[in-house]
Amino acid sequence: MSRPRSNEHRLVAHVDRLGEQHPPIELASVDLTLVDPAATNDRFGHVLDYMARVELEVDRNVLELTTMLPDPPEVDRHFYADVWQPQEVRHGQILDRLQVELGRPPAETDLTTVSARLRLLGALGRIPAVQDVSRMLYYLTGQATERSAVLAYGLLHDGLHELGEHAVAETVVAPIRAQEPGHHAFYVMSARGLAGQLAAWQLWLVRRLRALSFGPVGVNDADQLADFGEVMTTLGIDRDLDRFATMVARVETDLLGAAGRGLAVPPYVLRAFREAVELARERAGR
Ligand SMILES: [Fe+2]
Ligand SMILES: [Fe+2]
Repeated sequence: MSRPRSNEHRLVAHVDRLGEQHPPIELASVDLTLVDPAATNDRFGHVLDYMARVELEVDRNVLELTTMLPDPPEVDRHFYADVWQPQEVRHGQILDRLQVELGRPPAETDLTTVSARLRLLGALGRIPAVQDVSRMLYYLTGQATERSAVLAYGLLHDGLHELGEHAVAETVVAPIRAQEPGHHAFYVMSARGLAGQLAAWQLWLVRRLRALSFGPVGVNDADQLADFGEVMTTLGIDRDLDRFATMVARVETDLLGAAGRGLAVPPYVLRAFREAVELARERAGR
């Protein structure tokens, strides 16, 4: 079993509270009435498609997680099995229903592929010091993902109101968005608790592996990176890309020492977001 973090009791209380206060969103509470399905599809259809896919792929994320961290602390298992996965899958189901209302096919998901890199980390994780490196990668990925989700859902919520689609803005996007900050807080508390226990060489390795493997949420190949770039462009994030990257990576910047080296954001984060926007532009030009 992995070593408990110094703030383990606070984490357990946080996860218990999330479970009580945020059950999966009731399908009956969702109002999919649309004023103009065609216009909404034109503007935000691909954004909803991207989000639905990412939310539904949490089933694969759990497989990845159990491969990479076969022996997690009990509170981690409690979080992903009892709180996170049921909430996220419901987010995906609701967004998928909305897609169908817009006249789009349901999201195409990959629920089973676990990369060779994660299987390797899982095998190396039999060494406890290496498992702690993998855990840190997991918490940092989680925090960046959830922060991206909070920001993107906020922009989508405002955009749907602007289109006059108040029902879906308030009964679909707002309740989904409200569940993401609790996930974010879990990963931030976990990362901070673990960071204090890592040796300098472990932090160095985390930094190297993040630089090699960082990708925006939901990106597994070049096509999906371009899809993410399109989402950024539609939501207007491309016009304020540095600020978005800085917000997404704030905890990572702090914990991995980039802030101490005078950087507002690790260079690999900025590079990935810029590349996403460039790829989307290239693809649109073809
Ligand atoms: Fe979600
Ligand atoms: Fe989430």
